[in-house]
Amino acid sequence: MTNKMKAIVCYNYGSPDVLKLEEVEKPTPSDDEVLVKVHAASAGAWDWHGLRADPFLVRLMGGGLLKPKNKILGSEIAGRVEAVGRNAKQFQPGDEVFGDLSGCGLGGFAEYVCVPENVLALKPASTTFEEAAAVPVAAVTALQGLRDKGQIQPGQKVLINGASGGVGTFAVQIAKSFGAEVTGVCSTRNLDMARSIGADHVIDYTQEDFTKSGQRYDLILAANGYHPISDYKRALSPKGIYVCSGGSMAQVFQAMLLGPLISMTGSKKMGSMGVAKPNKKDLVFMKELLEAGEVVPVIDRRYTLSEVPEALRYLEEGHAQGKVVITVEHNS
Ligand SMILES: NC(=O)c1ccc[n+]([C@@H]2O[C@H](COP(=O)([O-])OP(=O)(O)OC[C@H]3O[C@@H](n4cnc5c(N)ncnc54)[C@H](OP(=O)(O)O)[C@@H]3O)[C@@H](O)[C@H]2O)c1
Repeated sequence: MTNKMKAIVCYNYGSPDVLKLEEVEKPTPSDDEVLVKVHAASAGAWDWHGLRADPFLVRLMGGGLLKPKNKILGSEIAGRVEAVGRNAKQFQPGDEVFGDLSGCGLGGFAEYVCVPENVLALKPASTTFEEAAAVPVAAVTALQGLRDKGQIQPGQKVLINGASGGVGTFAVQIAKSFGAEVTGVCSTRNLDMARSIGADHVIDYTQEDFTKSGQRYDLILAANGYHPISDYKRALSPKGIYVCSGGSMAQVFQAMLLGPLISMTGSKKMGSMGVAKPNKKDLVFMKELLEAGEVVPVIDRRYTLSEVPEALRYLEEGHAQGKVVITVEHNS
C-alpha cells in the first residue's frame, strides 16, 4: 500500500496561484487521533483570508508570522475513518464522519488527514459526503451566532444579512428551526433561493436598504457586515440584539469596539461573535437538524482537489450562492 497522498500545499502566503497539488507523505494517526479518508471538503471565505494572510491579524493569531504554519489548508471535511490511534475510542474504521479542523491544524484539502477524535461527529445518515462537508464551520458559526450570542427565541423577527452565502444559507434555516420569523437580505438573483430555504420575507439589497425601511427586528445576524453599526442599531427593536459574524475588518472592528459601548448605554445589545468555536456538541446538534430535514446544505459549485485554487478564486469574488465543495476522488 502506498504511503503517499495528494494534497494542495501552500508554502507561502499569497494568491491562489501559490497553491500546488503535490504528492506528500500520508499521515499516521497518533494515539488520540483518527485517520480520515477525505471524500469531500468545503471552502469558505476564511480559507482565502488564511491563504492571503488578509487581514494581517491572521499571522498574529497563529497562522504563522512569515509563512503559513499549516501547509495544507481546508477546515471542513467529511469522509470515512480509515484507522484509529491506540487511545481513540469513539470511532472505528469504516465510520462516516464530518468535522471542523480549524482548531487542530487544518489539512482538509488532501486525500487523508489525521485529526483528534473529539473534533469529529458521525456524518448525518441522510446526507452525502459533499453535503456533510458543507456544514462544520459555516453552520456552526450561524448556530453559535443566533443561539449563543443572539439568544434567539421562537416568534422573534430575525433578519439575516448576507442570507445567500455559506453562513447565511445555514442561518436562515437554523433561525426557522428555532421558530423565528425570518427575513433574508440578498441580491435579486438569490431571492427565490432564500425563499426556498424558508425565509418568510426577502429583501433585495440592490433595491432597498432594510436599515431605512422603518421595520424593526429583534435579532439581526450580519453574516456579511455591509453596513455601519449605526445602521444596524436603527433597525433593531428596543431590546433587539445585533450579532456580527463576518464582514470587512471595519465592520468587524466596529462591532467589537463600539458594540459593547452601545450595549452599556441602552437596551439594545450589539457586538461581534468573534471566531466560532469548533465544538462537537454543536456538530451533533447540526447532525440532528440535518437528519430531521430542517436544514439542507445549499451547494453552489463543486470542484475537484486539483481545482482548489479555482474554488478559492470564485469564493473571493464574494458572490457564492451557499457553499463551495471540493470533491476528493481516490484513484488508488
Ligand atoms: N465568525 C466566524 O467564526 C466566521 C466563520 C465563518 C465565516 N466568517 C466570515 O463570515 C463572512 C461570510 O462568510 P461566507 O462563507 O458566508 O461568505 P460567502 O459565502 O463568500 O458570502 C457570499 C454571499 O454574500 C452575499 N452578499 C454580497 N454582498 C452583499 C450585500 N451587500 N448584502 C447582503 N449580502 C451580500 C452574496 O450575495 P450576492 O451574490 O447576492 O451579492 C453571496 O451570496 C466572511 O467574512 C467570513 O470570513 C466568520
